[in-house]
Amino acid sequence: MPSAGPPRVANPFWLHSGAGFVSNAGPTVNPAELAKPFVHTYPSYVPGRPVEDVARDLGLDPSCIIKMASNENPFGPSPLAAEAAKRAIEQGQYYPDGGCYALRARLAAFHGLQPGQFVIGNGSNEVIELIGHVFLGAGDEVVMGSPEFVVYRLVSLLFGAKPVEVPLVNFRNDLSALARAVTPRTKVVVVSTPNNPTGAATPAEELIAFIRGLPERVIVVVDEAYRDFADAPPDILPLIREGRNVIGLRTFSKVYGLAALRIGYGYASAEMAGLLDRVRQPFNVNAVAQAAATAALDDQAFRDRCVEGNRTGMRRLEKGFTEMGLKWVPSQANFILVKVGDGATTFDALQRKGVIVRPVANYGLPEWLRVTVGTAGQNERLLAELAAVLR
Ligand SMILES: Cc1ncc(COP(=O)(O)O)c(C=O)c1O
Repeated sequence: MPSAGPPRVANPFWLHSGAGFVSNAGPTVNPAELAKPFVHTYPSYVPGRPVEDVARDLGLDPSCIIKMASNENPFGPSPLAAEAAKRAIEQGQYYPDGGCYALRARLAAFHGLQPGQFVIGNGSNEVIELIGHVFLGAGDEVVMGSPEFVVYRLVSLLFGAKPVEVPLVNFRNDLSALARAVTPRTKVVVVSTPNNPTGAATPAEELIAFIRGLPERVIVVVDEAYRDFADAPPDILPLIREGRNVIGLRTFSKVYGLAALRIGYGYASAEMAGLLDRVRQPFNVNAVAQAAATAALDDQAFRDRCVEGNRTGMRRLEKGFTEMGLKWVPSQANFILVKVGDGATTFDALQRKGVIVRPVANYGLPEWLRVTVGTAGQNERLLAELAAVLR
């Protein structure tokens, strides 16, 4: 309740709100008691640290910090996408087209599918959640590799489903073990290829044969976030055309450099896409993101240059790690796992030098760091700082 003036006893929890002094001491009934029980043990997502956050924390100049932690595109977005975004913000007073008409049409041409075969999300993360909304509940099982992109585990838990985690072998999905893990309760099987956090890809023919061998009632999510960087990625369109319940997931956050705008999509049969689309929020994808993504698809020359820049950077990091005597995992993505001994300490020391990478202990890899391939300058700096830290 707003009060007439400041409290007589100094209390750090009293804030001036403009409308008077209000208590920030907390409600009398603790909302924690009202929350659903699973929330208390729910493991929240821990993102790569933003530059500004690290700068504030360590008293560093943000312009001296480089972030190689979240598999973003170090070359930025296409200038065409940036232009389209600027034009779109000028119409910012209007709600976006909730149906994403123009983007769907562009995607349909890009993939050779119908516009109704897409579901567009606020990042592909949202599409993963939509899959949970439509298909997952208590008693369902979601079969996935371990480690696999952590959001699959989180979304399974969010909907009361059980993540069934099958250890990778040599950093790659073990397809026969995944197939053996399928039970009558299995609702969804997930394969990210290339995998995050390992960067290892599942060979195309093996993946397609694996999916064809699964019971038809099982929904397969093929997460293709890093597909653009891979040498011979699988093509799941024939499976969709055969009527398999396969959902391909793509994102504009990686090769298209639009992570800040949050936009990604799923493609599948029209029936599948329609179900997922039904449960999304009315304006889940903002107009700036829609415009930028549509323009990004038009600039495939920029995309190709980014892929090439990533390839060159990857070779440089591999060479640098080898020269330091460090083990690394061959990657088909825009990041690479490197074994540094004590991941947490090395992460911390690099961060103090203004280089943000990703510790992966949460993925069961405490001795490793995941490093996003940067620009040529960023790669050199990472290698130099890492050598200094490990010396
Ligand atoms: C394998 C994988 N899938 C999906 C995503 C989510 O991407 P976004 O929500 O930015 O589209 C990521 C992000 O890092 C990822 O690594």
